[in-house]
Amino acid sequence: MNPSPVLSIDRLSLEFPVYRGAIHALNGVTLSVGAGEIVGIVGESGSGKSVTAMMAMRLLPATSYRVTAGSLHVLGHDMLTVSERTLSALRGADVAMIFQEPMTALNPTRRIGAAMVEVIRCHRRLSAHDARAHAIALLEDMHIADAAGVLERYPFELSGGMRQRILIALAFSCNPRLLIADEPTTALDVTVQRQVLLLLRERARALGTGVLFISHDMAVVSQLCDRVYVMYAGSVVESGPTADILVRPAHPYTRGLLLGLPESAAPHTPLHTIPGTVPDLSRALCGCPFAARCPDVGPACTLKPELSTAAARAVACHYVHHPEPVA
Ligand SMILES: Nc1ncnc2c1ncn2[C@@H]1O[C@H](COP(=O)(O)OP(=O)(O)O)[C@@H](O)[C@H]1O
Ligand SMILES: [Mg+2]
Repeated sequence: MNPSPVLSIDRLSLEFPVYRGAIHALNGVTLSVGAGEIVGIVGESGSGKSVTAMMAMRLLPATSYRVTAGSLHVLGHDMLTVSERTLSALRGADVAMIFQEPMTALNPTRRIGAAMVEVIRCHRRLSAHDARAHAIALLEDMHIADAAGVLERYPFELSGGMRQRILIALAFSCNPRLLIADEPTTALDVTVQRQVLLLLRERARALGTGVLFISHDMAVVSQLCDRVYVMYAGSVVESGPTADILVRPAHPYTRGLLLGLPESAAPHTPLHTIPGTVPDLSRALCGCPFAARCPDVGPACTLKPELSTAAARAVACHYVHHPEPVA
């Protein structure tokens, strides 16, 4: 593993206080992103992916949550105690974020060029003319033809894929060391999604940016990421190199996610879905969080399995010894 990760989260537990209790959204999450590494988090809706992403940038309102254990560092800064001043410096220059809905992130009443020039001039001392030239160069990096023409458009005049390319171009404009992308391609159709993912990867590789890429879709993560963390009910249940996880998923939950991929299904049969639903996070979980849905559940599962973090590959399951190729 990289000796100085750009993002490192160690056994982080976080809850949202609610009337007479708490939602235990993160239960001991450990993960890291090395410099220049593209790392995925995959898991069903409600598994804690967005809370992890928001927390990495301290974007959750301070009064809304409690950290009950663990630590979180970005570029060596302790994000749980960092000053507001350092936070804004980090957010402006070293860390960038992109989200699912590219329409809401762009002001609908402003032309693309004006919006881009404003962001660029926040980071760099450039004249309006030079900032515009830079905006064109950024769009060309994202393989946008007629970049000068695109600057004259309003967001609603562009396709979702084009808007997301513009936001990715902007995210890379400050040359960030860490990019956090939360479901950035989920609203796009599959072909456009693939193009956008390839561009994201190309830019990250070109600039040496570490990426934390979040998706509920294993197929998307597998196209992009060097390593992947599988999250379930606020815990990491498995992690390892993407290629290895795809061929030898070890955790029964990971196997379930992979069986849901279109390429795993026999022709003309419905896609596999994992029966049951994610656990109620307002109760403290004891035991393995996946036990209630697990096809391989056994007596040991009343104790929560630890994720072994010693090896490149880690699995939190009492009954996994030899990961087998997926059937
Ligand atoms: N502000 C909040 N207050 C209470 N519960 C929240 C809040 N934000 C998220 N949660 C809960 O935390 C859990 C994880 O949510 P989230 O990280 O958004 O999941 P994912 O992104 O994996 O779909 C969910 O059960 C969600 O309902
Ligand atoms: Mg989410």
